[in-house]
Formats: sequence, structure tokens, C-alpha cells
Amino acid sequence: MIAKKILIAPSLLSADFSRLGEEVRAIEEAGADWAHIDVMDGVFVPNITVGPLVVRSVRAVTRLFFDVHLMIEDPVKYVDRFADAGSDLITFHMEACPSPADVIRKIKDRGKKAGVSIKPGTDVSVLEGVLGQVDLVLVMTVEPGFGGQSFMEDMLDKVKYLRPRFDGYIQVDGGINRETAPKAAAAGVDVLVAGTAVFGQEDYAKAIRELRGT
Ligand code: DX5
Ligand code: ZN
Repeated sequence: MIAKKILIAPSLLSADFSRLGEEVRAIEEAGADWAHIDVMDGVFVPNITVGPLVVRSVRAVTRLFFDVHLMIEDPVKYVDRFADAGSDLITFHMEACPSPADVIRKIKDRGKKAGVSIKPGTDVSVLEGVLGQVDLVLVMTVEPGFGGQSFMEDMLDKVKYLRPRFDGYIQVDGGINRETAPKAAAAGVDVLVAGTAVFGQEDYAKAIRELRGT
């Protein structure tokens, strides 16, 4: 079997927001595959970050694939705005909406890739009905809300369960660093989100190479 290339998605949450455009260009030059943008509403999670206006602003300075992680209640209401702003992939939380199929359909109708995410306390079985409809599953490896937390290694059991059942991208988010990245890759993860482990380093290119294991 030929090993698949692991994709690295630096999380802008750990970037210097006073120079956000430069930071996005810097990760693009450093070899990032995607830019991960964390959207928090202060309700679904106890923190507030950015909205469509900021996504649109950074869209103007890069060609990077925009992986938008919605940690918001009632995501269906905001799909159009994030699609208009230039998202390529929109991921929402299963815990945040009563009818995930409607959100997925709305994202797909806009011609975007669709992802679903589960928090650490959510059982992987909730994904059963949607696996055939989405491009990506995001398994949270920390409680969503903040960067810089410790990796919850037991979440990789969810990845191992999903891998033979799902052909799309499996992504993990939270606590990814040089030590935890190889464990996630071995479990079958395709896309590693990393905030601190990229933006907290001097040399972004070196940080990305190390996470990818090359
Ligand atoms: C947490 C966010 C993550 C976060 C990861 O709710 O979804 O994307 O930025 O940060 P690190 O890599 O520092 O754990
Ligand atoms: Zn995220």
C-alpha cells in the first residue's frame, strides 16, 4: 500500500491577528496544505473568534484551501455567509443542530465540501447516518474552544473505528505536535490541524515538515 500524504492545516487561531494576512501568506509559503479557520460564537463554545468578514478578508490574500470549522449553534443559518466569504470546506458540529442532513445539503448546494465534527464526549455512532454524505469527519482531540490544550489520545479509537467505514478525509484537531502527529497518522488520520505547533514556532516550514513526518 502506498502511504497517503498527510495534509497539514495550520489553525489561524494561534496566528498573530494584528498581521493576519501576512501570517496566512507565511503558512502558504511554508508548505501548508489548508488554512484552518476556527469560528466560535460564545454559545456553542465559551469563546468568540471570527466571522465571515475575516474569512473574506484573508481570502483576498491567498490561494490556500479554506477549511472553516464552525463551532456555532444553528450552523444552517450561516452556511450562505461563510460560502460567500470564500470557504472551500465547511465543517459543523453534530451537537449543534437537530438536522445535520439539512446543513450538509445546504453546504453541498453551494458547491462546497461538507464536514461534520464530534466533541470528545460524543459517541462516534452519531455519525452513522451522515458518513455517506460528507467529505470530511473531524474528530476533536480536545474540548473545542481554545488552542494550546493537551491531546486526548483515546479519541484515536474513534479514528480507528471510522477508517474502514469512511473513504473521505478524517481530520483531528487539538493538541497536535511532533509527538502526537505520528500517533494520529498511524490511526488513519488524513488531515492534521495544528495551531500552537505551527504558529508557536520560529520556522513555519520546519514545523510543518516535522508534523508531516518528512
Ligand atoms: C479548538 C480549535 C483548534 C485549535 C487547535 O477549539 O478547534 O483548531 O486552534 O489548537 P492547538 O493546535 O494549539 O491545540
Ligand atoms: Zn478547529
